[in-house]
Amino acid sequence: MLRVGDELITLIDPDAPASEAYRTLRTNILMRNFDRDMKVINIISTTAQEGKSTCVLNLAMVYAQLQKKVLVIDLDLRMPTIHKKLKLKNKKGISDIIGHQAEFEEVVLQPYENVDVITAGTKIPFASEFIQSNALKEFIEERKKEYDLILLDCPPVGLVTDGIVAASYCDGTILICASNRNDRKELLRVKDQLEQTQVNVIGIVMTMMPVQRKYYNSYGYRYSDSQKKTTQKKKKNSIISSITKKSDKKK
Ligand SMILES: Nc1ncnc2c1ncn2[C@@H]1O[C@H](COP(=O)(O)OP(=O)(O)OP(=O)(O)O)[C@@H](O)[C@H]1O
Ligand SMILES: [Mg+2]
Repeated sequence: MLRVGDELITLIDPDAPASEAYRTLRTNILMRNFDRDMKVINIISTTAQEGKSTCVLNLAMVYAQLQKKVLVIDLDLRMPTIHKKLKLKNKKGISDIIGHQAEFEEVVLQPYENVDVITAGTKIPFASEFIQSNALKEFIEERKKEYDLILLDCPPVGLVTDGIVAASYCDGTILICASNRNDRKELLRVKDQLEQTQVNVIGIVMTMMPVQRKYYNSYGYRYSDSQKKTTQKKKKNSIISSITKKSDKKK
């Protein structure tokens, strides 16, 4: 299984298969820019704990590695986790900016080069109204001038509709789908909901796939030179041994 853990895999192990998968996702998004600029993207899932926030942060990181300026906004106001994953304080955040309690400049944090983060901020009792507010839409629109990509971390759409509402002011939406979590009925319900609201789903990311290490290693998914050489050597050896076996049989 691609166990990503709470560490940012794209930062600590850029050669890992999971990091490669995030770079593939980046390429796919960049390629989707043909008739619409993919600047604001929100990440949703049907149920909780499917890997949304992890995807948001790793995607931000691989964009930053291309020297692109990224802004991550935690819009999961009910159960915010972005600050926890990055070990940041959540004293003031997006709710404070929109509620005119703080300025963008005093709230925005920069945990990594090219990755700016706005945490969720002060807990508010009217999260849905907040997500629908013109003030939030205008704020995001304004930020588009400064950033190459704005990623919105949203709560699960099976629980609250915040993610779908947010999608209405995004250029695209990514649906995260944990391979071991969803039942077909629930997925179809969310699919209908997304179609009815005309959300522009630009991709589905399957997480928590049961991939065996020996499978991806044997196909050389690691790209560091030394790894490549070892993999090639092993492949050569296995081809040689299979030839030997065949010729042995002939005898
Ligand atoms: N691709 C993945 N493969 C395996 N485990 C993962 C993957 N992505 C995330 N995880 C793990 O799954 C757990 C949930 O991840 P995460 O917090 O990103 O999910 P979430 O969808 O944002 O959850 P929530 O709905 O509670 O906000 C974490 O322990 C994380 O390390
Ligand atoms: Mg989350």
